[in-house]
This record gives sequence, structure tokens and C-alpha cells, in this order.
Amino acid sequence: MKKPLIAANWKSNKKKNEAKNWLEEFSKKEFGESEIIIFPSFTLLDFVSNFIKEKSLPLKIGAQDISKFSGGPYTGEVNVGQIKDFCEFVLIGHSERRSNFQEDLETIRIKTENAISASLRPIICISNFDEARSLEFAKDAIFAYEPPESISTNPNSKPAEISDVSNFAQKFSVTFENELIYGGSVNAQNVSDYSKIDGISGFLVGGESLDPNSFFEIIKNAV
Ligand code: PGA
Repeated sequence: MKKPLIAANWKSNKKKNEAKNWLEEFSKKEFGESEIIIFPSFTLLDFVSNFIKEKSLPLKIGAQDISKFSGGPYTGEVNVGQIKDFCEFVLIGHSERRSNFQEDLETIRIKTENAISASLRPIICISNFDEARSLEFAKDAIFAYEPPESISTNPNSKPAEISDVSNFAQKFSVTFENELIYGGSVNAQNVSDYSKIDGISGFLVGGESLDPNSFFEIIKNAV
């Protein structure tokens, strides 16, 4: 795999001191060629972005979500203009948002348009081919194939079979030119097998990204 994209989805985890410890530990590592993106909570974007700038670390930042509204009277929402100073990427349509916050494809489409109009690069989570088709306009988006049953926090979760991911990637490449990454129970042991799949150019890592050492092992083995 050439210069893989490896993203750490911290989800709703880490306070400022925990993020600081993570970054201090992680910044001691030799990252090699990978493109590494950290997705912290909104509350940490400013801190993580400053830390990375001050230490000149070759890390990129993304937000885990954005509002479908562009700003105004939407209490609790964070809009794309508010994160643009800190981020290059934004995660859209994660299955946890779909199941816990009833996000539908129309919402995901609007959020994707908002991200693109602000020159943020969306990473859109999909679990089937039809979802990708409905977002076909997003030519510059990265798609993350994440079967919800493979996400480590789901009861009885298990990593997707190599053959399933490979079939999906093959079918995807016939129709789309977008970059495709895989997410779901990725760890330092299974990542080398996933890395061999044609059409998969990186990984979205949840649970195993919370510890800087296990995340680094994944980066090392994703070659
Ligand atoms: P996981 O999460 O690596 O813990 O399965 C992946 C994700 O939810 O993006």
C-alpha cells in the first residue's frame, strides 16, 4: 500500500490532558510515509491544532461531524465555518450518528455539500454500495467502508472478512474514482491483511486509536 491514509477516530473520548498525553507520546514516533489524520472532539480541535503546529508534526486534523446548518439559531450545533480554522477533513455519516442521532442520507448529503463548499475534505462512512451512489456528486470525498456490525463497540462485533472488503472494493472501483478506506475493528494484527486488498488505501481506526502505542503499531503494519 502506497502512503496509506490512517485516521484516528477518537469518538467521544479524551479530555484536554489526555489528548496532551497522547500527542506527547505519539510525537516521539517515526511516522514514515503515512498520511495520518486525528479526529478529536470539537472541544479539542483548537488544542490539538496548536500542538501540531508548535511541534511541526506531520499530522492532519479532522472534525467528527458538522452541522447541516450553516450557522444561526441552532443551539448546540457546530457549523462548518467554525471548524475550518482547525481542520482539513470532516467525518460525515458515521454509523453511530445514523443509529444514535437518526441521521439519514439526505442529512448526510447536505453535510457533504457544506463541507465541500468550505473546502473541507469529507470522509463519508458508508456500509453499502447504494449509499455511495447517492453521494456520487462528491467527487473529491473519501469513502470509508464501515459495516456497522464490524465496529468494535457493537456487541458481538467482528472485523469484516477480507473477501467481503475485497469484493466491496472491487465493485466500488468499477463505478467510483473516489479513494476508499476501511474501518471496523482494525488492529495491529489484522491491518497487514487488509493492507493487501486492492482498492483499499487506508483505515479509519476507532478503539485502537485511543492508545498512541497501539495506533502507532497499526501505522507500522499498514504497509
Ligand atoms: P473501531 O471503530 O475501530 O473501534 O471498530 C471504527 C469506527 O467506528 O470508525
